[in-house]
Amino acid sequence: MSAVAVPIEQYALLDDEECQIRIERAKARLGDRVLILGHHYQRDEVFRHADVTGDSLKLSQQAARSGARYIVFCGVHFMAEVADILSRPDQVSILPDLAAGCSMADMADRVNVQRAWDQLAALIDVEARVTPVTYINSAADLKAFCARHGGIVCTSSNARAVLEWAWARREKVLFFPDQHLGRNTAYDMGVPLEDMVVWDPFQPQGGLSREAVERARLILWKGHCSVHQMFRPEHIDRFKAQHPDTRVIAHPECSFEVCRKADHVGSTEYIVKTIAASAPGTRWLVGTELNLVNRLARRFPDRPVHFMAPTVCMCSTMFRTDPQHLAWVLENLVEDRVVNAIRVPEETAALARLALERMLEVSA
Ligand code: 13P
Ligand code: SF4
Repeated sequence: MSAVAVPIEQYALLDDEECQIRIERAKARLGDRVLILGHHYQRDEVFRHADVTGDSLKLSQQAARSGARYIVFCGVHFMAEVADILSRPDQVSILPDLAAGCSMADMADRVNVQRAWDQLAALIDVEARVTPVTYINSAADLKAFCARHGGIVCTSSNARAVLEWAWARREKVLFFPDQHLGRNTAYDMGVPLEDMVVWDPFQPQGGLSREAVERARLILWKGHCSVHQMFRPEHIDRFKAQHPDTRVIAHPECSFEVCRKADHVGSTEYIVKTIAASAPGTRWLVGTELNLVNRLARRFPDRPVHFMAPTVCMCSTMFRTDPQHLAWVLENLVEDRVVNAIRVPEETAALARLALERMLEVSA
């Protein structure tokens, strides 16, 4: 065994087939010391090696209960951070490609959220009246921020229960970074659009008047997912003009207009389960990331599955995890060398854990 990790460059030239063989061999040697988690947006050549596949809620629950020494997260950075926060100190969370981030998560950071909080505090008593809620698609220090101010984390599958929790405690919610998940969920709960405002972090006072803040029940951060914003209501209209019998299903990160036209709205796991449970012959138009839609189309040849947009909408950062990186981390683990460990400093992790545990309790 060598103490020096084999560099990724030595794997870059391996073809996918060679990687498949090496991944399987390394997995067999590691046995139950490793758990591979795979988000639904992963490419097939990686997804097929996952021990557990799912949406962000299911995968974070798995990370919390896993006994494996190594948790290899085939997903994006915030997911590997959550796995580190929820696992035991002797477990190691690994992200095969450190460049696999989430552009939506980057739209809110500790500095601009703190600034927003301070500016809101100049208008209203935030500690008494506002619960901060962060989408799990955010950095660990924002989860810690929420815990510090009586707030909580949500995912796309428990946002409703989390908002109920938040409003039961304080009259207003500051929701970041995805305005669409917040708006779509609250509207479905019966909150009218007039009770929601959008906080633009690049405008003084979020671009809002004191009266607007005073009136609002939900303050939505001006953030979005660049993949899901590509889906438009006219895509649905055009498709349905040709196939009126189509069922439309969309992820709640899609715009309000798209979600209003959809027959079903839910997380990636919900989308998979809903299409799996549908009758053969059902035609589906799906508004979420392309790798998942293509996989569903192949898995269910008896129920046509179509992608909602005319252009390719792939999450380029989810796509970064390739078989070469997976083979690289696993073969290093076989030699007891950890590459690409994700470690959240304990001070931040302790608070972030609190906000995540509140969420897990709400979703139990
Ligand atoms: P899920 O919670 O549905 O897995 O969504 C995560 C995500 O990043 C979707 O863009
Ligand atoms: Fe982030 Fe959007 Fe990719 Fe999901 S699909 S990981 S929200 S950039």
